[in-house]
Amino acid sequence: MAYAILNGKMLDRAEAKVDMEDRGYQFGDGVYEVIRVYNGKLFTLDEHLERLERSLTNISIKPPFTNQELTEMLYQLVEKNNLETGIVYMQITRGVAPRNHAFPSGGVTPCLTAYTKELARPLAQLKSGVKTILTEDIRWLRCDIKSLNLLANVLAKQKAADNNCYEAIQHRGHEVTEGSSSNVFIIKNGVVITHPSDQLILKGITKDVILKQCESLQIPVEERVFSLDELSGADEVFLSSTTSEVMPIIEIAGNSVKDGNPGPVTRKLQEAFEQEIVEQCGELKQSI
Ligand code: PDD
Repeated sequence: MAYAILNGKMLDRAEAKVDMEDRGYQFGDGVYEVIRVYNGKLFTLDEHLERLERSLTNISIKPPFTNQELTEMLYQLVEKNNLETGIVYMQITRGVAPRNHAFPSGGVTPCLTAYTKELARPLAQLKSGVKTILTEDIRWLRCDIKSLNLLANVLAKQKAADNNCYEAIQHRGHEVTEGSSSNVFIIKNGVVITHPSDQLILKGITKDVILKQCESLQIPVEERVFSLDELSGADEVFLSSTTSEVMPIIEIAGNSVKDGNPGPVTRKLQEAFEQEIVEQCGELKQSI
């Protein structure tokens, strides 16, 4: 039997049902996190919980549990479900109330749900690299909040899928922002360049791990806006996310990135990322 968490209670997943008038369901009025599990351990858990707290604060939802309580609950869930390699999905909505756009008066209890999913590391793609397309970024101006409103991201990802691509790289006019569910990095003359973590992108936990590693590997970094021209002229391009780690991009909108193979800086960062996994979660059964 698979278990899920609903408002602090561990239930049979099939019985963990939420109300039709949950504001997450009706308005996307809530926030979420996806956390990687390697060897039954939650990778960068504290960073995810800190971001969750920030997202909640930004939309004026009072966290229903402390980070200590959430840590205990999520570990219990991973253990109950015997999860070795996969993800924990967790979301908190404003709660259940009669439909009305404004916040419910008189207070409402936020609704927490969490479940696990088995998910292998995408090793073949981490080795070979992936193809991408370009799409205009039509999202709102608070992409730093990990909100449940993902319609623009869904449409962008579907456009990628329709073109047999792994990801859609979004841009606002000439400026590249991020992928539909990932951050994007380019490398030019040995310098790693990525969009600053402002309100136009999500401050990726994976992105921050990579930036720290660049520092210790003495790889120069520029966190600044870069253009579509810089993207197409880059020596190397990769994307990052909880599920994709450091994923080489070998094609953008039908054009190869350089010779169409993952480059040396990307490889070095993949190696450093695997070391970080090993440090936090123990030895990996397979490496890239
Ligand atoms: N997506 N940007 C967007 C728009 C994202 O949705 C994500 C993550 C990232 C990378 O963030 P992180 O490194 O913290 O995973 C960047 C998750 C995995 C998802 O929605 O499934």
